[in-house]
Amino acid sequence: MIILGIETSCDETSASLVRAEKKDQKVELITNVVSSSLALHAKTGGIIPEIAAREQVKYIIPVIKKSIEGLKNPREEIDAIAVTTGPGLIGSLLVGVETAKTISYIWDKPIVPVNHLFGHIYANWIENGNSEKINFPVTALIVSGGHTDLVLIKNHREIVWLGGTRDDAAGEAFDKTGRILGLSYPAGPQIEKLASGIKKDVFNFPRPLIDSGEFDFSFSGLKTAVVRKAEEIGAKNLNEDVLKNISFSIQEAIFEVLIKKTITAAVKTHSRSIVLGGGVAANQTLRNKFEFKIENLKLKIPLFVPEKRLCTDNAAMIAAASFFNYKQEPWKNLTADPEAYFD
Ligand SMILES: Nc1ncnc2c1ncn2[C@@H]1O[C@H](COP(=O)(O)OP(=O)(O)OP(=O)(O)O)[C@@H](O)[C@H]1O
Ligand SMILES: [Mg+2]
Repeated sequence: MIILGIETSCDETSASLVRAEKKDQKVELITNVVSSSLALHAKTGGIIPEIAAREQVKYIIPVIKKSIEGLKNPREEIDAIAVTTGPGLIGSLLVGVETAKTISYIWDKPIVPVNHLFGHIYANWIENGNSEKINFPVTALIVSGGHTDLVLIKNHREIVWLGGTRDDAAGEAFDKTGRILGLSYPAGPQIEKLASGIKKDVFNFPRPLIDSGEFDFSFSGLKTAVVRKAEEIGAKNLNEDVLKNISFSIQEAIFEVLIKKTITAAVKTHSRSIVLGGGVAANQTLRNKFEFKIENLKLKIPLFVPEKRLCTDNAAMIAAASFFNYKQEPWKNLTADPEAYFD
C-alpha cells in the first residue's frame, strides 16, 4: 500500500509518500519533503507559535503537491493518509489535521491519526537496511526538542511508558544552554560541532538523577549550572576555546544520563533491541557513546538509530508509524490534541 504522511506539529511542514506491505517489517521511502521555518525562529532565539502556524499555512499545499508529483494518478494510487494529531503547537497541528481531513473527504481515503512521539520511534523502521532485525521487546529513547521519554515497546500494539523528563527535554537543554553561550536556535548541532575534537570534561556539569534508579530525567539544573559558570567566566572571556570546552562538558553531562538510564531500562525489561529517535539522536557523539557503552558492558542488545535526516521532524516517520499501528478513523472524528502523550 502507499501512504501519504502529513506532519505539521511544530516548525516543519512535511509530506511524504511511503510504500509498505504486510509481510515486510520496514517501510520504503518514496518521497519526503520537508520545509522548515527554522531560519525565522533562529532570529528570535526560539519558536513563536503564531509565526510557526502562519508558515504552516503558507507551505502545506506546495509541500504536499511536491511529495506526490511523481505519481501519475495520486487519487488512485494513494491508499491511506496518516497525519500527526499531537502533541505539538495547536495552530501548527490544525493546519495538517484539517488539510488531511479535507483530502480524506474529497478522495474518499481512510485516515490514520498518529502520535508525533510514536513517529519519532518509527523512523527506525524506514528502509534502515536492518530494521527487520529490530526484535521485541524494544527499549526506545525519544530525545527531541520538547520530549525526553523512555518507553518499552512490547510489540507494535503495546507501548508502555517507563519515564520521562520532569522539566526540560534533552534538546531543550541544548537549546537553552546554547542560548546562554550566544548560539542561535537550535543550538544542538552547533554544540556538537564545537565539542568535536575536545577530549577532557573540564567543567563536569551535574548529571541530575543519574543514580535515582528510576527512569525520570531532569535537565533544568544543568541550565542553571551553565548560567553560573558563564557568569563566573564573564562574557568577555567566553572565547572560542572556552565555548568548545563548555560545549563538550554539556554533551558529556546530558549523554551520560541518557545512556545510563536507557541501558538500565533495556536490561531491566529484558529488551532485545534499543532504538533512538528525535532530533538529539542525530548527534554522532551520542550514537558512538551508546555503541561504546553497549560493547563495553558486553551486552547483546543491538542499537538502532534512524538516518540523521529522519531524526528531526518529517512526515515519513508519521506514515511509517501509521502502517505499524493502522487504526483508521472517520475523518469527522479527527481533532488536533496538543497535549497528546503515551496512552
Ligand atoms: N546534532 C545534534 N545534537 C544535539 N541536539 C540536536 C542535534 N540536532 C538537533 N538537535 C536538537 O533536536 C531538537 C529538534 O528535534 P525535533 O525536531 O525532534 O524536536 P521537536 O519536534 O521540536 O520536538 P518534539 O518532537 O518533542 O515535539 C532541537 O532541540 C535541537 O537542538
Ligand atoms: Mg519532533
